[in-house]
Amino acid sequence: MLTTDSGFTINTLGVKVGAEIIGADLRKHLSAAAFAEIEDTFYRYSVVVIRDQELTTRELVEFSRRFGTLQINVRSKTKTKDADIRIMPDEQEAIYISNVKKDGKFMGSTDAGRYWHSDLCYEQIPSKMTLLHAIEIPEKDGVVYGATKFADVAAAYDALSGTMKNRLEGLVAANSFRHMWQRKADDFGTRMKLGDEELAKLPEDAIHPVVRVHPVTGQKCIYICDGYTNRILGMPEDESDQLLSELFAHMTKREFRYQHEWSLNDLLMWDNCAVQHKANFDYDPSLRRLMQRCTVMGDAIT
Ligand code: OGA
Ligand code: MN
Repeated sequence: MLTTDSGFTINTLGVKVGAEIIGADLRKHLSAAAFAEIEDTFYRYSVVVIRDQELTTRELVEFSRRFGTLQINVRSKTKTKDADIRIMPDEQEAIYISNVKKDGKFMGSTDAGRYWHSDLCYEQIPSKMTLLHAIEIPEKDGVVYGATKFADVAAAYDALSGTMKNRLEGLVAANSFRHMWQRKADDFGTRMKLGDEELAKLPEDAIHPVVRVHPVTGQKCIYICDGYTNRILGMPEDESDQLLSELFAHMTKREFRYQHEWSLNDLLMWDNCAVQHKANFDYDPSLRRLMQRCTVMGDAIT
């Protein structure tokens, strides 16, 4: 436990990744020094929850903006027809992640986080961080469901053999929103499979390094993910498939994991270069889960 100059309490929650901040009130404007404490904690622990935040969407957006430019979700930009048309909150820069329906329609994305992934890695300029705020969490008989799992992909990189590290040096891969869409349509039926014309409206695949250097910490991180990466370039397809499967299995091993068990009014922030995440769909669909989310644009990957 640590108490900061601004009076926040910081507790670690995991081995290397995962910490909580208690005693902040994000409805009030934080001083630059107080904000710097939160930012430092974020880069140090990669997955950080600020407890007890009762935030409107506007307040979430305003706090998130202090980290950088917010990204507008691709599905609201492309207006692709799909089974779970989202209703945006008042603010364009936030979306709902939820199984809750309003006027017969899902309020937001119902199937975010089905596969291990890094948010917006399918964009040319991906997201450096995500802020997810728990408005309602699924609970039954005193047990809370719908945890979010994280994998420390910096630790996963460090644990690779020297031979594998050399093999990955300089490799780039395609990260594909289109691939993810069709896979979810096949696997869960919550989205409609798209034809060529509609697929073409979705972002083109983004080519990113298989291993990234973290822009702030300098750590090397594995930056391919099961959810979006469909091809390592410059090698035969079967070799790429095999290498991807090997890496996916490695990076999501238990030893690299941290699991966030939600409490109401948690504001969880994660670093999309240092960790990947996956949602736990372990609850009955009749239990409501309502989250609001912002993503902050990162730097161009060099
Ligand atoms: C996300 C996401 C996981 C969850 O919002 O980007 O993957 O547990 N969410 O809701
Ligand atoms: Mn996500």
